[in-house]
Amino acid sequence: MQDLESLSARALADIEASTDLAALDAVRVAVLGKKGSLTALLKSLGSLEPEARRTAGQAINGARDAITSALEARRERLESEALAQSLATGAVDVTLPGRGEEQGGLHPVVRTQTRIEEIFRRAGFEIAEGPEVEDDFHNFEALNVPADHPARAMHDTFYFPDGRLLRTHTSPVQIRAMRGSPMPLRIIAPGRVYRCDSDVTHTPMFHQVEGLVVDEGISFANLKAVLRHFVEQFFEKPRDLRFRASYFPFTEPSAEVDIQCVFCDGSGCRVCKQTGWLEVLGCGMVHPNVFRACGVDPERWQGYAFGMGVERLAMLRYSVNDLRLFFENDLRFLQQFNRG
Ligand code: PHE
Repeated sequence: MQDLESLSARALADIEASTDLAALDAVRVAVLGKKGSLTALLKSLGSLEPEARRTAGQAINGARDAITSALEARRERLESEALAQSLATGAVDVTLPGRGEEQGGLHPVVRTQTRIEEIFRRAGFEIAEGPEVEDDFHNFEALNVPADHPARAMHDTFYFPDGRLLRTHTSPVQIRAMRGSPMPLRIIAPGRVYRCDSDVTHTPMFHQVEGLVVDEGISFANLKAVLRHFVEQFFEKPRDLRFRASYFPFTEPSAEVDIQCVFCDGSGCRVCKQTGWLEVLGCGMVHPNVFRACGVDPERWQGYAFGMGVERLAMLRYSVNDLRLFFENDLRFLQQFNRG
């Protein structure tokens, strides 16, 4: 009896002292389990006289009931505490302000490219596309730039091991368009181009818009008229154009086109290096060899082509003085183009 009292007193104390369910279960096993202390007492009953056995049995059963209900009460207590705690840590404060959704916007280069496309689309041009991974034939050979041609040195080409390359200009789309559809043709081809070149005014990837018109009776005058119209629309005011004789293997004659400086209206400033002029594109009449490479009869068809740099036009339109700003993805820079 003495044993029973101290045993159940300790069991009840251990139950109270259990701070988690695992500890509580360990107490249960130590007291009521197969080898538990109370179970051992019950087993010892067999050695008592029948009268004593009955009294002791009742006492032990009473103690077992008390311990069982203490265990049960403690378990419920611990379970509800655990639940309360997990609710508290996972709680969502619905009164906190949200994280907010920032409105995105188009990149200034994309905006400029779209603007160029729109102007030419309204003038009757269709949009054409070509792959950025090109072959030598489309990027050079068919454009009258044979393998030993010095003009290849001007193009700092990225080559793949299999001889293919990243296009160095959008002019290969001229070839694809002429070989892919019947004349006449009136297309512009915007897209990314790549050159192994990187400094303050050059990035390894940039954008060009190519133009190509092939028809009967096309002359340099048509080219000048289209470019004049484009520049006036793009800058929203008439600008003087200056055609400087130049050289491209795929056009003859060729010219580089300057526009009257959009910052000083031609009087001379830092941007135009006091010349009053800004170079914006290359152009010329399609070379007969290019027509021949595309199976187009140069006796019947004439054409003009031009290529302009999108980043360059974006810098002029938005007064951006560093090309690298377009590629750093600094939100403070990009957000300025999100309005309107
Ligand atoms: N492809 C030339 C360049 O990247 C530009 C150009 C296009 C010139 C079409 C003439 C005609 O520099």
